[in-house]
Amino acid sequence: MAGCRSWVFFLTVCAVSLFGANAEIKFTIPVGKLFTYELMRETFQNDFEPLSKLYAGRLYDDPIIFKCNRQNYPDLPEWLRFTQRQPYDNGFLYGTPKSEEKYIIEIYAVNKRSYETTRQILVIKVSGEKMLPYQAEFFIMLREVEKVLPSPVQDEIKQDLQKLWDTEALEVVNITNALDRGGRVPLPLAGHFEGVYVKVGSEQYFSDCLLKVLTADHQRQCKAGAKVKVPGGCNFCSIPSNCITWCKTELFDLTKQEPAPPAPEMGSGILEAGGDFDPSESPPSREYFLDYIVTVIVPLILAIILCLLLACIMYGRREGVAKRNARTNQIQLYHHHTILGNTDELRSMAGNRGVPSPLSTLPMFNSRTGERAPPLPSDSASIPLIMAQHDPYSETLPRK
Ligand SMILES: *[C@@H]1O[C@H](CO)[C@@H](O)[C@H](O)[C@H]1NC(C)=O
Repeated sequence: MAGCRSWVFFLTVCAVSLFGANAEIKFTIPVGKLFTYELMRETFQNDFEPLSKLYAGRLYDDPIIFKCNRQNYPDLPEWLRFTQRQPYDNGFLYGTPKSEEKYIIEIYAVNKRSYETTRQILVIKVSGEKMLPYQAEFFIMLREVEKVLPSPVQDEIKQDLQKLWDTEALEVVNITNALDRGGRVPLPLAGHFEGVYVKVGSEQYFSDCLLKVLTADHQRQCKAGAKVKVPGGCNFCSIPSNCITWCKTELFDLTKQEPAPPAPEMGSGILEAGGDFDPSESPPSREYFLDYIVTVIVPLILAIILCLLLACIMYGRREGVAKRNARTNQIQLYHHHTILGNTDELRSMAGNRGVPSPLSTLPMFNSRTGERAPPLPSDSASIPLIMAQHDPYSETLPRK
């Protein structure tokens, strides 16, 4: 079976259990094929304080989360992705390397109950192998990425696709969560799934069933949004949840791909190998006087002219007080002066209220002798302004 090669991982998981999680785990994987590594919670659980001490004999599950990064880097390499749905689920590292390189991946497991941590090192050596020339991508609607990554499920899906492709030589090239490709988060209801894209590749050319995807008839049906029925005799889906969505199937023929754009040509700025660097002459000095005049002096002169103009309008044409007085009617001026004089007098009188009040304000005086009656205490409420008169008639009225 073609699957044998990739199931080294299973053995590795056993190795981890034997040698403890601090051992380095080594993989050699080819370019262009899917790599999956399941982070088993049990493996890491063994590294933490034995729980039998706490819970006599009973195996107890701690919530565990993982943090993964490439050694000496803040994050994972671009091609490698990590997913873990919940602290009680296993995590997965998966992805498809695109070039030969050696990667050292650090995995930290954090026990969310005790906050203990443990570390595992993964050494992934990517070896060269050419990409599979014929690739096809399928969309599986009723799946989630964590459910597809375990190798038994990958095998199930591959078996269906082997029948569809009519070849045994099939490899899984990529598995992608539909959410990473612009899919929508499903409703939190049973029967709603995120969806998964599965890309497989083979050395063998596409089967007739696959080529039906390219027919105009099929594409027209898909565009119309009609529920596309599976092209006749091509339904190889044995487990309903693994069935593919035909309208989202895409074929890639890497042999027919347009040649890569030509490498950028070296411009004149690049030094010949071995040559000495000869700096170019510094550019000739430039006269900036004219620019200075235009940008600084001209606006300054304009501003000064405007200032002078404004000053002239505001102050230069004002009429003096003398000129105004000369023009004004004399009677009017006299009138004005008397008003001013009277006001001044009143003001000065108000200024010192200690002086005796003017004669005209006193209640009584003899105009010839100037003799005064003692002033009535003014503001006195005891003396009414109008005296009540004795009514002589009131007593003559007969009493009732
Ligand atoms: C695999 O899928 C991811 C996500 O769509 C993409 O970024 C990556 O380039 C793919 N890798 C290959 C080798 O096709």
